[in-house]
Amino acid sequence: MKFAYPEGRLPRHYLDGDLVMSHVVSVLSALFPEGEDFFVRTVRNYRDEISDPELKAQVAGFIGQEVTHGREHRHFNERLARLGYPTRFVDRGTKYGLGFWARVLPKDVQLAITAALEHYTATLAYVLLNKPEARDMFTVPEVRSMFLWHALEESEHKSVAFDVFQTVSGDQRMRSWVMNIVTVDFLAVVVVATAFSLALDPAAYNLPRLARSLARLRTSPFVQRDVVRHLRAYNRRDFHPDDNDTTALEQEWKARLFDAQGDRI
Ligand SMILES: [Fe+2]
Ligand SMILES: [Fe+2]
Repeated sequence: MKFAYPEGRLPRHYLDGDLVMSHVVSVLSALFPEGEDFFVRTVRNYRDEISDPELKAQVAGFIGQEVTHGREHRHFNERLARLGYPTRFVDRGTKYGLGFWARVLPKDVQLAITAALEHYTATLAYVLLNKPEARDMFTVPEVRSMFLWHALEESEHKSVAFDVFQTVSGDQRMRSWVMNIVTVDFLAVVVVATAFSLALDPAAYNLPRLARSLARLRTSPFVQRDVVRHLRAYNRRDFHPDDNDTTALEQEWKARLFDAQGDRI
């Protein structure tokens, strides 16, 4: 899978001209490569302990998909860096932060972090694949295609890290408190990095524009009540990612994005 963003065709505020959302999505994109690398390492730590052949195959698929996402986001992030986004700085910060957690935390806690963050990516993917108004923000076709492709694959492998965690640990209390810490940490990182990114953008000093863009966030399809409910379901004792059956949604998007040979349409 390869995406190309032709020179000169990517405006700085590539998300429907929206200031804040362009920065938020750039921050998320900058977090992905190192984040996904961490996911792969934390799951790989337990690869030899998985005996179920089906889960083993799913783990191999998960690793393959996350490695490809990392590569494509790096490519996109370089493009964003040339537009003035601090994607390299966010990338280095993520590498440092996750490297620190990888050194000091037990491996099962690291795996629980991955399962929690995969619930975040699966939820964001669900919003993007399910709500036309979320997709409408992605006004540059190549950027929309890349995020839809990533969303489709996040939806496809949404239960893999969770199932590995359940197989090797299954500690529900730990899973739940890790999710709570991850939530605070992840939101804080996104808010701080977005504020930093905005501070480097001259357009953000146009205060009426900044205020309009912040006000628009309240109606964003990504921060509605149903999304919060979806995220919070994770802390239910009997939660499983497949409770939200996305098989039909994935079939639909596979047909919309790829032809019968698996090539992009
Ligand atoms: Fe991914
Ligand atoms: Fe993922």
